[in-house]
Amino acid sequence: MGPLDHPREEYHAGTLEVGDLADGPLQAVRRWLDDAVAAGLPEPTAVTLATVDADGRPDARIVLLRGLDDRGAVWYTNRRSAKGRQLARVASAALVAFWPQLERQVRLQGPVAPLSDAESDAYFAARPRGSQLGAWASEQSEPVADRAALERQVVEVEGRFAGGDVPRPPYWGGYLLTPEVIELWQGRPSRLHDRLRCTWVAGERPRRDPSGWRVERLQP
Ligand SMILES: Cc1cc2nc3c(=O)[nH]c(=O)nc-3n(C[C@H](O)[C@H](O)[C@H](O)COP(=O)(O)O)c2cc1C
Repeated sequence: MGPLDHPREEYHAGTLEVGDLADGPLQAVRRWLDDAVAAGLPEPTAVTLATVDADGRPDARIVLLRGLDDRGAVWYTNRRSAKGRQLARVASAALVAFWPQLERQVRLQGPVAPLSDAESDAYFAARPRGSQLGAWASEQSEPVADRAALERQVVEVEGRFAGGDVPRPPYWGGYLLTPEVIELWQGRPSRLHDRLRCTWVAGERPRRDPSGWRVERLQP
């Protein structure tokens, strides 16, 4: 049996009802994140971030979710990276999380904007020094001759900031995705999964308000 012939899983860990979203889908996603953390899952905040490149081709990679509040979802990266350049052209993205042990998937779609300098500064200042230096040393998404060249860049940066605080690189910071659509998916037996799609219909208001979301059950 090859790896792609792996036996099918049956899902029966839970259910998802419209009533579970009574306080709004963002709060429900928060609870699912909390559940993933409480269950001790590895990298519970890891999400796939999908963007679109200049030729309209989809691109995707994992990032760590660092905030989920009434405004939406936040992650941090190098804004000169491939994803940063893509978001500068097409300021719209999708995020997907999968927590296999809980048999849950969450999808968010919406416009993306850079976070403020103040918020990015605060987050950067709280990172370990090694990560701060790495943000200066790595031109994310650019080729490098070999591992040794990358390590020389780190040594150069360590020398530059020796004995002092490491400021946030001007090209490094957060992004906020303001969700227009949130889908929660709970696995169920026989592939008859529960899917609830929530669409924001209330204009420019905080996404906290449960009455601003239209909720539809989708066929699995
Ligand atoms: C578990 C995990 C977490 C990651 N978290 C981040 C992150 O928060 N920010 C980031 O820029 N890259 C993160 N990465 C690396 C990205 O997946 C990706 O390799 C990098 O951002 C370059 O992507 P790009 O060339 O499409 O811009 C993470 C990778 C993994 C596997």
